[in-house]
Amino acid sequence: MYKITESENLLTVNKIIDLRSDTVTRPDIKMRQAMFEAEVGDDGYGEDPTVNRLENRAAQLFQKEAAIFLPSGLMGNLVSMIVHSKHRGSEVIVGSKSHILLWEQGGASQIGSLQLREVKNLPDGTFDILDLNEKLRPESPDPHEPYTSVVCIENTHNTCGGTVLPLKWIDELSNKLKKEKIPLHMDGARVFNAAVSLGVPVSRIVRDCDSVTFCLSKGLGSPIGAVLVGSKSFIQQARRTRKVLGGAMRQAGVIAAAGLYALENCVERLADDHRRAKSIACAIQEIASPNFTCNLNLVQSNMLIININVSKVNVSDFIQKLLLIDKNELLDSNLNKTHSTIVKVSQLSSDSVRIVLHKDISEQDVNIAIEKLKYVISRF
Ligand SMILES: Cc1ncc(COP(=O)(O)O)c(C=O)c1O
Repeated sequence: MYKITESENLLTVNKIIDLRSDTVTRPDIKMRQAMFEAEVGDDGYGEDPTVNRLENRAAQLFQKEAAIFLPSGLMGNLVSMIVHSKHRGSEVIVGSKSHILLWEQGGASQIGSLQLREVKNLPDGTFDILDLNEKLRPESPDPHEPYTSVVCIENTHNTCGGTVLPLKWIDELSNKLKKEKIPLHMDGARVFNAAVSLGVPVSRIVRDCDSVTFCLSKGLGSPIGAVLVGSKSFIQQARRTRKVLGGAMRQAGVIAAAGLYALENCVERLADDHRRAKSIACAIQEIASPNFTCNLNLVQSNMLIININVSKVNVSDFIQKLLLIDKNELLDSNLNKTHSTIVKVSQLSSDSVRIVLHKDISEQDVNIAIEKLKYVISRF
């Protein structure tokens, strides 16, 4: 039980519905059992059978030659940018709202001696290929110019609210980059959400990507880990780079087992998260509040963004009210179900919050969260 103080009263919170991120899940008993039973060895010698199985399975699912297991998605992206860049000072092109640009501490420059150049993201997570074209700098003899070493795209797109990149756009982009001989990397932290949303295998989505990172510790529910896939020679280089970043592990089969379990058992259920994200978004739209809106067209996977009219509502005040239970709430007959429940959401920008569905949120939790959101919204 979790206690929270509100000015004059102290109310006991019996239930916390945590919608901040799909990274908050806890491994269930079957996943823990798989971890407990994992065969292990020293992965430094390539002798951890479970890690090897996970890497082979990932390569097979993505239809790439090889794969490497890493501690995090960030490390997968950083390793990729470094390996794709043959020259110090190369330029990596990323979307203006990409995780790599906004949330990875500038690792490309801090650690990789690379510079990030942004191309404006459109609301659906894509960007204008003509706009990109102006920014590409294939290897030229001009000593003033950095070379473009790789273009990175993100799928699903986190800051755009979990949007799924259209296959047609990826095809068009990859054709363009092939002509320029510039590699394409996908930050596919949630690429399985994209695959479930489109109803296609992940291998189709990444068909023309030279490298892809995906996370096991987001919607798939593992406690840790990401995998990077690509060609044999790319992954060989990635192993060297992972080592120097301190990401090489030893008996990592214990955590790889969770990843393998997730790949086999937790992909199909992502559809439930998508459906639930849509129900919350629809419920918010149904309130028809001028101060809280969701763009339903952009609710394409397990996330939704609530846009807030900041001339009327203070975003942190809204988040805070979801974390409190007031006396009126307990008296409201509609809210008996939400009795002593708080809902956690995260601030996405100065005028929006993000809600993320995941495996530890049930249908009943969704209904309760909707009631709580309705109640709090009605107070503004
Ligand atoms: C789109 C995207 N890429 C990469 C990452 C980084 O993953 P990790 O937290 O495993 O480093 C995240 C994490 O939230 C993400 O949302």
